[in-house]
Amino acid sequence: MTIHQRLAELATLGATPAGIDRPLFSAPERAARERFAGWARETGLHVEQDRAGNVFARLDGREAGPPVQTGSHLDTVRNGGAYDGAYGVVGGLAALERIAASDEPPRRALEVVAWAGEEGSRFPLGCLGSSAYAGLTPYDEIAALVADDGETFASAQCGPNGLLDGVPVRDGFPLPLAYVELHIEQGPVLEAHRVRLGVVTAIAGQRRMRLTVDGTPGHAGTIPMTQRADALCAASEIVLAVEQAAHNAGDAVATVGYLVVEPNQTNIVPGHVTLRIDARSVDDARVLAIERHIRGRAREISAARGVRIKLTTTEVRAAVPMEPQMQSLVRAACLALEPGAIELPSGAGHDAMCIARIAPAAMIFVPSIGGQSHVGTERTAPEDLELGVEALTAVLIAAAQAPPTR
Ligand code: GLV
Ligand code: MN
Ligand code: MN
Repeated sequence: MTIHQRLAELATLGATPAGIDRPLFSAPERAARERFAGWARETGLHVEQDRAGNVFARLDGREAGPPVQTGSHLDTVRNGGAYDGAYGVVGGLAALERIAASDEPPRRALEVVAWAGEEGSRFPLGCLGSSAYAGLTPYDEIAALVADDGETFASAQCGPNGLLDGVPVRDGFPLPLAYVELHIEQGPVLEAHRVRLGVVTAIAGQRRMRLTVDGTPGHAGTIPMTQRADALCAASEIVLAVEQAAHNAGDAVATVGYLVVEPNQTNIVPGHVTLRIDARSVDDARVLAIERHIRGRAREISAARGVRIKLTTTEVRAAVPMEPQMQSLVRAACLALEPGAIELPSGAGHDAMCIARIAPAAMIFVPSIGGQSHVGTERTAPEDLELGVEALTAVLIAAAQAPPTR
């Protein structure tokens, strides 16, 4: 099967009229992990999983020892696309298949990993599986996470859509020798430069915050405008403050993509609002400045409108530069295939952010048509998908032959 055919098959799992819904430990997400494990076994790879739901497929090397890893994620955002994450998993598998089919086995083992729950679209933590693997979030903390639907990670993991049947659960593992992740760019830069490969220099740092506004609910027809403590009006000012904070910080972005109004009825003054904020920059100081601005404005809005505002920072990930030796391998592989290949930072988060804490890590980007991502219309040209896999194959062979020195 070609990469394109495998991606099309995965795209049927969780398909909605607007895109793909494949949150961690849902039926379609489990089906995607099963599909990956099946394809990997057909290729003769050794398949294992860990307690966090990560699935590993290994090709042995001529020498024993830890692997060079590649991978990405199979979960999606709500109404997401067919390429974000899935491309890195399917592309990694294709690269290992090519290497396995060649006359020369790799010097060191190679492993492709489907990291669990990268999007944070069900449990309130992004890069969940890679964060657990890298030891950044203790497993007990992960087990206690509660999904928006009320189920804990520990319960979902044991449920019908949890860990895979018949796949050994790995307990303890050596640190990988190196890591390289193949991903769609998810933005417009490569397309604007008319180049087909990108060398990632760094991944933007991010903060996720949860903010609640408590106002006073009441009758929409009887409470005078001067006597209201409308939680949604206060939250609306917060949304604009978030936008302003990013403009003020410069070279940063901030978004309110989640907002719940209670009781959410036409003839009731809103009493309670919950919203979630996502702020990012490759310069961590700018992300911190955004949080400070929002906190300051929250105090002012609370006082002016007589509502209670609570802001909790739920996730902090520092910006991560890519490791120079691995980045050089990526640069050489990309330039050999695409002389115009450029260097660029990643505004999106990736599992590579977490694995970079325990191993030399780098990333390869291919273009996204129209820069679209996190939408059902996300696309990458099939020939660009193939070129990315060629670059990944070259990097994996080189890294397995001469892993970076730490
Ligand atoms: C994941 O794609 C993220 O960047 O939030
Ligand atoms: Mn992704
Ligand atoms: Mn994503």
